[in-house]
Amino acid sequence: AMASGGQRVVLITGCSSGIGLRLAVLLAQDAKKRYYVVATMRDLRKKGRLEEEAGDTLNKTLTIRALDVCSDESVTQCLDGIQDRRVDVLINNAGIGQIGPIESLGMPEMQKVFETNFFGAVRMIKAVLPDMKRRKSGHIVVMSSVMGLQGIVFNDIYSASKFAMEGFCESLAVQLLKFNINVSLIEPGPVNTEFEMKLMEEVGKSEFPGADADTVHYFKNVYLPASHEIFVTLGQSPDTVAKATARVIEMSRPVFRCQTNALYTPLVAMKYADESGNLSVRTFYNLLFNYGTLFHLSMSALRCLTCSCFRRRSVYPS
Ligand SMILES: NC(=O)c1ccc[n+]([C@@H]2O[C@H](COP(=O)([O-])OP(=O)(O)OC[C@H]3O[C@@H](n4cnc5c(N)ncnc54)[C@H](OP(=O)(O)O)[C@@H]3O)[C@@H](O)[C@H]2O)c1
Repeated sequence: AMASGGQRVVLITGCSSGIGLRLAVLLAQDAKKRYYVVATMRDLRKKGRLEEEAGDTLNKTLTIRALDVCSDESVTQCLDGIQDRRVDVLINNAGIGQIGPIESLGMPEMQKVFETNFFGAVRMIKAVLPDMKRRKSGHIVVMSSVMGLQGIVFNDIYSASKFAMEGFCESLAVQLLKFNINVSLIEPGPVNTEFEMKLMEEVGKSEFPGADADTVHYFKNVYLPASHEIFVTLGQSPDTVAKATARVIEMSRPVFRCQTNALYTPLVAMKYADESGNLSVRTFYNLLFNYGTLFHLSMSALRCLTCSCFRRRSVYPS
């Protein structure tokens, strides 16, 4: 199978699960068959789920290839296997999370987060740029996060890796516009994928060596329950994020930034409302340490407001 004339070749990284998998399937199922999706993953033994969800688009508008964003060789091999090495839309989705007190995290583990989330995307962009520039067209999409705009407690390294991506893209976007290449950052809030579960597994295994008892207590008994609550209350489905991404790809003048979760926008806006930065630092501090109960209550209120029975009653009052 290969792209037919008029089809845009979309390469997505990290399609074994989560947002990448849903986005690959969504684009492959496009009614007008506008996309030819190269859905990549680092370990092809995990392709079963994607194959299943792709259904009859498999080997028609979707092909599955191996690609590890941390390996030059793997990236070269994958691109060389694509007809004319043509990628019209590159979606850098592969990423890993990391939570916990930094005292208890090893330097190699932290570097792995940057190797994947930051240098992995940089490696991909560097590899497709010469062809995009030659053709004077292309779209580079990066799965960032609201944590790339606002640091969140105990996500220090992960936040930093997404901030790095944001800065990199802000800088690159200007130069690339001269070549008619667009850059877009997708900034989801919490998304209910394997992401959170993988983090919890890691945390469950760790004894937090090197971190003091107070910090471990705040992390386990204050941060973790609050974070879980946020995922349950504000979490979006990977499908919602995939659809938002598909809309950005379709734009004739793509937006540079797209926050997918409107409930998060005020939290991010705080830092621009007060240039001293104290408003956001103090607000997040109070939310976590002083207003635990209020935080819990407001989460319950949000859950109530966003619950479908409430929505039904408001839209169709009896
Ligand atoms: N879930 C959230 O709350 C959330 C919120 C905002 C942004 N994001 C971002 O969204 C993106 C997708 O995350 P997700 O929520 O869909 O989580 P996910 O289900 O864990 O998916 C992450 C994907 O990245 C892949 N990956 C990891 N390292 C890789 C490497 N070196 N090379 C190629 N692929 C690699 C994983 O493959 P394996 O199966 O082989 O590990 C997996 O397919 C990430 O960039 C994440 O930072 C997630």
